[in-house]
Amino acid sequence: MNRLQITQGDITHCTTDAIVNAANTTLLGGGGVDGAIHRAAGPELLAECRTLNGCNTGEAKATKGYRLPCRYVIHTPGPIWRGGDHGEADKLADCYRNSLTVASTLGCKTIAFPSISTGVYHFPLTQAARIAVKTILTYLRTHNDIEQVTMVCFDKGTLAAYEQALAETEQTDA
Ligand code: APR
Repeated sequence: MNRLQITQGDITHCTTDAIVNAANTTLLGGGGVDGAIHRAAGPELLAECRTLNGCNTGEAKATKGYRLPCRYVIHTPGPIWRGGDHGEADKLADCYRNSLTVASTLGCKTIAFPSISTGVYHFPLTQAARIAVKTILTYLRTHNDIEQVTMVCFDKGTLAAYEQALAETEQTDA
């Protein structure tokens, strides 16, 4: 069974042990998926975020899920796209790897990701999807504690990009 699933939906509805938030380095909320997660979780999420003193790009910090159906929210600031020669690809891979590491540390078995950095941060979607899928599959190969990772794509274009990226890896791994 494929331990990485690609779906379309709203990540605030996910009942996974953890959902990942495409945050910014202040961790004080914003628009996009960050705004949706804070709205659904309620004000206690921001209160806990305030105690974390921000988070560097590519790193990941966890909070409780509060009114969300998940147990934890793992906040990770993705890289802002600045043309591609400022280490953006490595930083995006760090977001996925460090979020999975935090999930393992918390004993999570299931985790859901949004498409980090491909909205307001303008990271090119096709390249971001390849980085995400490659990083997640590499992590899953050496970490059997994580049973299921779900990419939750908000729109059809994002869904197609992640399905394509997964299909490409299955061809090369075959
Ligand atoms: N569920 C799942 N995905 C969502 C949801 C949702 N409820 N809402 C938005 N998305 C998708 C967007 O459509 C996009 O594909 O999340 C992806 C990431 O887009 P952004 O939320 O804009 O995140 P990002 O590009 O990483 O920019 C982060 O935006 O909201 C601010 O505070 C945030 O400054 C930070 C920046």
